Amino acid sequence: MRILGIESSCDETAIAVVEGREAGRKFLQALRLKPYGLNVLTNLVASQAALHAKYGGVVPEVAAREHVDVIFPLLIESGIARDGSEIDAIAVTAGPGLVPALRVGVELAKSLAWVWKKPLVAVNHLEGHLYSVLLQEGSEKLEFPALALLVSGGHTELILMTDHGQYERIGATRDDAAGEAFDKVAKLLGLGYPGGPAVSKMALTGNPEAIAFPRPMIESGNFDFSFSGLKTAVAVYVKGRAAAGRSTALGLRLKEDGITDICASFQAAVVETLVTKTIRAVEKFHPKSVILAGGVAANKSLRESLAHALQKDLTLLVPDLSLTGDNAAMIAAAGYFHALRNDFVDPLTLVANPNWKLAK
Ligand code: KG4
Ligand code: ZN
Repeated sequence: MRILGIESSCDETAIAVVEGREAGRKFLQALRLKPYGLNVLTNLVASQAALHAKYGGVVPEVAAREHVDVIFPLLIESGIARDGSEIDAIAVTAGPGLVPALRVGVELAKSLAWVWKKPLVAVNHLEGHLYSVLLQEGSEKLEFPALALLVSGGHTELILMTDHGQYERIGATRDDAAGEAFDKVAKLLGLGYPGGPAVSKMALTGNPEAIAFPRPMIESGNFDFSFSGLKTAVAVYVKGRAAAGRSTALGLRLKEDGITDICASFQAAVVETLVTKTIRAVEKFHPKSVILAGGVAANKSLRESLAHALQKDLTLLVPDLSLTGDNAAMIAAAGYFHALRNDFVDPLTLVANPNWKLAK
């Protein structure tokens, strides 16, 4: 089964074709082997990051206009036949995300489904991130229940996945998402947008123990997070340095400026908080595998710390670095499992839902 995936929820326009190898599925199931086998045939991502950098963040209307300009050429570039003949189903991100941006992908998907007479799947963007781990070698190791730490620019959630399409949210951020905190700290330090890659690069040469930033809610008895106070702590620290005459503006000598130490100490606080809570959730819910996904899953320190903290016999699935950020292959992958369950939506009635929750 071949699925066309379409993603436009934020500042990446993406088109992908993923093939589910269900030939021999029943045979594999009979052997109690998991027939995940997904092949990425096409995976095109057009990032708007440079466009939004001058605003210091994503501007919804600008994002939507760019999606409109780019999405159709991207579809043509994917080489899909004009009549959609090699495609069996269409999967599109229908939320959460920015309404004007989401609508571009959703309307294209509806039109194609209508004209090509193909079944249509509405995929939750967060579900897409979770399925990004099934697009690589080792994905057959996924076992349920799986505990997922989902960390992106808009979300920070701990999700218990009990089966395909079955999610329970056991914790979430009460304010800023982890990626958002990286972006805000980067802005504060003049490192540009998006902040995650810039801050983590600076952190490489800094001392993570230089500044004792708080580990928000680390001792709370629940699985929730809060990163807004941490961002404020960094702001207060930076102001304090500026008042003491040691500016943190870029262009000055970085080492002396301490930017690398600020980045490393901030990153250490985020990573320790995320990893501690995830391990506590593992101890409580005893999952058979753990998933780390979302844009922040690109963070090397987070990947390494989580792998280190987990017991060696517990499978950790992390997407390939090329699939941590927004892409349409992960949307097609999630869509494939909906299609296997005949979980389709009506193209006439599908509307984008900016606040679509994956789980209660
Ligand atoms: O999943 P994603 O591409 O978009 C959303 O669904 O939000 O995540 C984007 C977020 C941004 O906040 C970006 O700064 C962050 O992921 N990010 C990182 C890294 N690479 C991207 N955060 C920390 N370290 C990174 N290496
Ligand atoms: Zn995302």
